[in-house]
Amino acid sequence: MAHAGHDPKPASARSGSPLRGRLRAPGDKSISHRSMIFGLLSIGETVIEGLLEGDDVIRTAKACEQLGATLIHDGPGKWRVHGVGIGGLKEPKDVLDFGNAGTGSRLMMGVAGSHPITSTFDGDASLRSRPMRRILDPLEKMGINVVSQTEGGRVPLTIKGPRETIPVTYETPAPSAQIKSAVLLAGLNSPGETVVIEQEATRDHTERMMKLFGADITSVPHGQFGRKITLKGQPTLQGRKVIVPSDPSSAAFPLVAALIVPGSEVVLEAVMMNPLRIGLIDTLLEMGADIEQMNIREEGGETVADLKVKHSSLQGVSVPAERAPSMIDEYPILAIAASYAQGTTRMNGLHELRVKECDRLDAVAAGLEMAGVSFEIEGDDLIVHGTGSVRGGGPVQTHLDHRIAMSFLIMGLASETPMTVDDSTMIATSFPTFVPMMKSLGAAIGD
Ligand code: S3P
Repeated sequence: MAHAGHDPKPASARSGSPLRGRLRAPGDKSISHRSMIFGLLSIGETVIEGLLEGDDVIRTAKACEQLGATLIHDGPGKWRVHGVGIGGLKEPKDVLDFGNAGTGSRLMMGVAGSHPITSTFDGDASLRSRPMRRILDPLEKMGINVVSQTEGGRVPLTIKGPRETIPVTYETPAPSAQIKSAVLLAGLNSPGETVVIEQEATRDHTERMMKLFGADITSVPHGQFGRKITLKGQPTLQGRKVIVPSDPSSAAFPLVAALIVPGSEVVLEAVMMNPLRIGLIDTLLEMGADIEQMNIREEGGETVADLKVKHSSLQGVSVPAERAPSMIDEYPILAIAASYAQGTTRMNGLHELRVKECDRLDAVAAGLEMAGVSFEIEGDDLIVHGTGSVRGGGPVQTHLDHRIAMSFLIMGLASETPMTVDDSTMIATSFPTFVPMMKSLGAAIGD
């Protein structure tokens, strides 16, 4: 069983000297998953540089192999994928075990389900608790058959693709790039046009990559904040070179660390500045953060910048709900910054946080409570009353959630007493080098 034998490893962090130095956070998780998937769905060779070799992405890579791709590992972050092309997937012999990876499993349901094969998806205890109905609903409309599942639309589940999927026009019920991407990926092997409408624009890596690999896809504004995406089905995708930029969701941890630890000055290299991913930076700037964007350039089809970050005295702000899709993974670390700010930070409209690797709203609240931070939850809004300093404490329960673990370890770098977390093993899903990289800046963090 995927989650059997999980051996938790507690960790702690304490305040110490200022953080100094430069680092490049690992490759973007969203783009890393997709580079493997597009490699599988292409004819010829896809060359990937800067792949995040975290557990989540490696699970997706293994699933691509099980579905017929040939993978060659040329060195750290360097991979070649020989794909089978759209329509060419083979039936996997074993369960596709996605571990902790929500993105990998959900995107792959669209990929495998749009082929006439049967595949079973499973994962760890966290993935087994996450809702999959939001993916299965549109896939069923496309003719994909869910042949077995546990109650409530969770993995383990088995899906069977029809001879040919039906293209749909689908409006996503939540602002989720995973739902959008699963439908578009299934649309790749459907005749005619697949249309996805989203009321709030979410990260657009799938659309960008479809274009890069040769699909005919357009995206136009829809309503006040949304997009309408139209994909022509059954293109021939050609293998491409993908350079994976540094993940802004991982860079967020050393970034906030530098802001809260007195005397710090840190440079974060080549951070992806995709406008649909940088809500945290916008928010921190509003809070008075000293973040300088330097050397803005294009890398691998995305804008990247080096960020010079200095310790700052932060002020509380109100974060509008419509900003949530552009910083959905960053609320836990924003709650840490808000704890060290002066005044109240109100984070509005966090309902999607409840269906992440754990219920992140509850997990953040429990951690803040342990650290002695004053806060309230009103419906799906989190309101943090910062006083400029944090007591510390723990052990914070991380519920197999990497971002909860990293957030509360960062909190401990400036707290009066150390912070501890009950488990740090899951950090390897997205940021395997987190502890050594933070230590290289001078952070007192570890076992
Ligand atoms: C992701 C989309 C987001 C995000 C996740 C990665 C993606 O999930 O939380 O970490 O790569 O598409 P939702 O789309 O469900 O909000």
